[in-house]
Amino acid sequence: MIDAKSGDVHLGVVGAGAMGQGIMQVALTGGMRVSVYDAGEGAAERGARTVMQRIERLVEKGKLGKDEAESCRGRLKLAGGLDGLAGCHAVIEAVFENLEIKRKIFAGLEGIVGDDCLIASNTSSLLIAAIACGCRKRDRIAGMHFFNPVPLMKLVEVVRGPDTSDEAIAFLTALGERMGRVPVTVKDAPGFLVNLGGRAYTTEAMRILCERVATPAQIDAVMRDCCGFRMGPLELADLTGIDVNYPVSQFVYDGYNQDPRLKTSFPHRALYEAGRFGRKTGQGNYRYGEDGKPIEDGSADHVTTAAPAGHLVLGEVDEPALSFLAGLGAKLLDHDDGKSPIVAELLGEDCTAHAVRTEVDHRRLVALDLSCDTSKRVTIMTAPSADAAARDAVAALIAKSGRAVTAIKDSPGFISQRMRAMVANLGCEMAQIGIAEPEQIDLAMRLGLNYPLGPLELAEHMGLSDTLAMLERLQAITGDDRYRPSLWLKRRAGLGLAIHTPD
Ligand SMILES: NC(=O)c1ccc[n+]([C@@H]2O[C@H](COP(=O)([O-])OP(=O)(O)OC[C@H]3O[C@@H](n4cnc5c(N)ncnc54)[C@H](O)[C@@H]3O)[C@@H](O)[C@H]2O)c1
Repeated sequence: MIDAKSGDVHLGVVGAGAMGQGIMQVALTGGMRVSVYDAGEGAAERGARTVMQRIERLVEKGKLGKDEAESCRGRLKLAGGLDGLAGCHAVIEAVFENLEIKRKIFAGLEGIVGDDCLIASNTSSLLIAAIACGCRKRDRIAGMHFFNPVPLMKLVEVVRGPDTSDEAIAFLTALGERMGRVPVTVKDAPGFLVNLGGRAYTTEAMRILCERVATPAQIDAVMRDCCGFRMGPLELADLTGIDVNYPVSQFVYDGYNQDPRLKTSFPHRALYEAGRFGRKTGQGNYRYGEDGKPIEDGSADHVTTAAPAGHLVLGEVDEPALSFLAGLGAKLLDHDDGKSPIVAELLGEDCTAHAVRTEVDHRRLVALDLSCDTSKRVTIMTAPSADAAARDAVAALIAKSGRAVTAIKDSPGFISQRMRAMVANLGCEMAQIGIAEPEQIDLAMRLGLNYPLGPLELAEHMGLSDTLAMLERLQAITGDDRYRPSLWLKRRAGLGLAIHTPD
């Protein structure tokens, strides 16, 4: 087999659409020879022209030398049919997402290319096993799942089918690196790694919306300001498009035999059915103006004219919470005076469960989420029929310190805890079922979805026992198996091991 890193690799690309073009571009800038075939009339030529225009733009931006661009042009060839790919060392297929079409192409390629030519599919939703099942020599068949737009997205998932050889994985990994990507080897399973791992962030936000705990603006602001995510889940869903993420959610949910952890909620379907696909249609979780910017539909901030609380009755709080409260300048009472707001720091509990358990007056109970970054924004939460004056007095006290306040309805785990616990739990489950090595799961989720931390790192950051406690309480309070903790997390929390500890 040719040396994938430095040899004169000849890559075939089948399909010159959005993905095929991106793959061609990074293969050319990686120094390979590329032959492209597309069944559409003039499609290969159009695709090749677009790729060369993009490469010229790189020259204009000073990112690529003129000579290198000329060299790329010389290495790019059009193939009139699949047989034009006969001498290739590897072929990547990026045609329509249709199993029959892909199977036909793979069968056709097997009759054309040499026995040591690798054949990879860029499919995002079909199993490699299903594409490969009619093939004669299946050890050289794999997935090579790039992300859109390819030149900007560093990650590539190298999918190991049931028969894929170690040599094929090593070759495709080296090829991916040569294309300037970061390859991660993943299991052949629904959604592979990133499209599975990303389900928690979207579907838990939809669940919170469904329960009317908070508005899209509140959910997004908390995830950005308190949890370090670049985008909130609902603005992100609008950007990727509800027409994309709703079917992906359904397909992954069905692929895992309707595991409740992966279930999305009705608001997601409602948007999909209504054709409210997000930015592209001007309406989704938000409404968008002519300029494409969201129209403010209620602020995430709880603004009040109430006077800051003078006294606070202490419920259950720990040391860091005490210093947070002391920093607000309120006088903390250690007995209930019967009129001041009662503040408690909750982990995985809602106000109702807390009030029932500790027998405090639920009307004056104001819960604080201090589990996340509270330097910009603090989430407060109250029970049904709570005293608005108690809530507003606490909100005013926090606002006086320069922080924004998000006031939500009763919810086990507020927003930040249940969102992060679900992301972390799904990452743990991915490690448990062997989607990829634990460190690689984190790497892929950071690169593929721009998460500030990978899901296992997130569990470590929140603390394994706290993450487990959040999930167990969420499961107990809601009665929903959606929140059942992964055995991966349970075992490592129970044994006091680091989250990346292998089995
Ligand atoms: N677009 C994305 O965001 C994205 C991301 C990751 C993976 N993918 C996957 O990549 C693949 C391609 O997606 P895309 O967005 O580039 O699609 P696209 O519609 O932009 O391009 C597909 C191309 O395949 C060509 N084609 C169709 N049938 C063919 C055949 N029998 N032989 C040769 N060419 C044929 C079409 O003419 C078209 O040019 C799909 O499997 C998709 O699931 C897409």
